[in-house]
Amino acid sequence: MKARILLVVASLVASVLIGLALASRGPGADDPRDDGIVIGLSLDTLKEARWQADRDMFVKRAEELGARVLVLAANSDDTVQIGDVEKLITNKVDVLVIVPHDGTAMAKGVRLAHEAGIPVIAYDRIIRDSDLDLYVSFDNERVGELQARYLVEHLPTPGKGRIVRISGAKTDHHAAQFKRGQDKVLQPYIERGDIVVLHEDWAEDWKPENAKRIVNAAISAHGPGIDAVLASNDGTAGGAIQALSEEGLAGRVLVTGQDADDVALQRIAAGTQAMTIYKPLKTLTRGAAELAVQLAARRVVVATQTVDNGQRPVPAVLFDVVTVTRDNILDTVVRDGQVSYDEVYRGLPEAQRPPRP
Ligand code: BGC
Repeated sequence: MKARILLVVASLVASVLIGLALASRGPGADDPRDDGIVIGLSLDTLKEARWQADRDMFVKRAEELGARVLVLAANSDDTVQIGDVEKLITNKVDVLVIVPHDGTAMAKGVRLAHEAGIPVIAYDRIIRDSDLDLYVSFDNERVGELQARYLVEHLPTPGKGRIVRISGAKTDHHAAQFKRGQDKVLQPYIERGDIVVLHEDWAEDWKPENAKRIVNAAISAHGPGIDAVLASNDGTAGGAIQALSEEGLAGRVLVTGQDADDVALQRIAAGTQAMTIYKPLKTLTRGAAELAVQLAARRVVVATQTVDNGQRPVPAVLFDVVTVTRDNILDTVVRDGQVSYDEVYRGLPEAQRPPRP
């Protein structure tokens, strides 16, 4: 039997609170510590640093709440990931938390889980065209808007320049959301001819080597006169910067990013990457683990927003993001304990480091 969703609601200032209750399944005990809740976590990949951090922090919080987590990662392969979901269902998990490789293909995973009476949370990336129970993420269009706004304002001549765009994986619905946010900001500049997009492409599977190829192609076709690379995440920023360094351009071309990966923060400290978007993983992982335990225990979960996944408005919990540059590394990621001072500045001589907080 599939999860029953109750839309209960109350108006609270401008937002609508959606009460979501699972009445059909789960161990049903009030205290998760007593009922041996098992959470299935199916990840697209563990190749990028951020997903290892997501896994570790999610598991830690779930264990603190008395739950166990079975983790499987699919190495960016849809067939493997559907197999992982089937394995977790066979293991009789109480709730499934999925980071889909392909947000559309994973609709099948939601159907299979629901047939087994298991509720599904899409973690960070939405699962499209499905009867998904809950979506926990960040405001992804805003990520794209912040990246593009930073780029526009920090071009050598603000508001004008020649840029290269690297979007993410076509299979990841987020990549389209980031692009939509970026387009919103860039469109007027492009229409006026103030910003010229020399070259743009999607980096398959978000791989740095594919991002590198995109920048190599841009340089071969247009020469080194590039003012900025709008890279959609830190992995692709890394690939772009490698291509720029081969031409002696690293540090002279503005490069954006996202995820606040340790290596990206080191590049920002060193000046080869201009910015990243910090998506506080502690908030996301704690939130998702708590919601997963509540769903498994048939407690009422409150979501303040909805996101349309093509089939229906899915109850959603979306957290805020922050732009990180050289100027606020200490006040953001270091202060929050996402990364240590030593890790960020280890490549820099003592004299070039900011005072230790
Ligand atoms: C996430 C990004 C991540 C990218 C590649 C996206 O869905 O939102 O944080 O960099 O996937 O893994």
